[in-house]
Amino acid sequence: MPIKSSKSIWRNGELIPWDEAKIHVLSHVVHYGTSFFEGLRCYRGQRGSVILRLRDHVNRLSDSAKIYRMGIPYSADELCDAIVETVRANGLAECYIRPLVFRGYGVLGVLPYECPVETYIAAFEWKSYLGVKAAEEGVDVQVSSWSRQAPNTHPFLSKAGCNYMSSQLIRMEADVNGYGEGIALDREGFVSEGSVQNIFVIKGGRIRTPPLASSILPGITRDSVMQIAGDLGYPVIEGRIPRELLYIADEIFLTGSATEIVPVRSVDRIEVGDGKRGTLTKQIQDELSGIIRGKKPDKYGWLTSVDVD
Ligand SMILES: Cc1ncc(COP(=O)(O)O)c(C=O)c1O
Repeated sequence: MPIKSSKSIWRNGELIPWDEAKIHVLSHVVHYGTSFFEGLRCYRGQRGSVILRLRDHVNRLSDSAKIYRMGIPYSADELCDAIVETVRANGLAECYIRPLVFRGYGVLGVLPYECPVETYIAAFEWKSYLGVKAAEEGVDVQVSSWSRQAPNTHPFLSKAGCNYMSSQLIRMEADVNGYGEGIALDREGFVSEGSVQNIFVIKGGRIRTPPLASSILPGITRDSVMQIAGDLGYPVIEGRIPRELLYIADEIFLTGSATEIVPVRSVDRIEVGDGKRGTLTKQIQDELSGIIRGKKPDKYGWLTSVDVD
């Protein structure tokens, strides 16, 4: 999907024209992958435009940087305000938002401290990551031959740009083999996550999801689903998932801010259930979209309004 440009990008405290958001080729991030980012969405519903779980995304951004000993030169409040301002200034009633912090131009060499921390926020239109029909029809996935890194290699609780080289390998392999997504195992051979999604597996009315220790990103949609499912009477079990549970599951779905909630139709060409979106998957999708679209109360306090003209 090509990026659809909007008007301005927030850079270090001010809005600049989209085309001016450029960096030097010798920036630290280009060579050593020193970036941390977020992906979140603004939705248009009956209550106007709302950003979903803004504060949680900003908090995760700062956690991601902290793991790598990097401070962000803006407070959480300032970043939240800047994100709202970027959406508003671009007049985007519904959009994807990409806050990004990275080490810029300064010195070469892996020790990053002398390189400035650059902060950017972009907002632009972006449709559902796995296609508009995926939420209903689901995707066919394969278990990837690429595992997620062991916990003492790259920290997965940090949403760092460099982690996405692993994601690229997983997604490219799935693509080459004719699948819509790939599911990585962790270093012990248990289910980890999709290339950019967390995973939930349902069997006999029990919903399971891999624990943080299985090299997963602590997904914010994952957290929303856990809260919703719990309140629907299905407390989610966080625990290691053997690969073969994927082949005998009643329902599987993937979650992410870009992907939203997408059912899995088959794994390694084995149908999940009857190959159709399951009832629990739909119930959870409906609950979340009801909140986002303003048809249900924002009972968890997840929404931040944006006054878009
Ligand atoms: C590797 C990975 N796992 C899981 C997720 C889902 O996280 P979230 O629901 O916070 O978007 C993402 C998306 O950002 C991701 O990149």
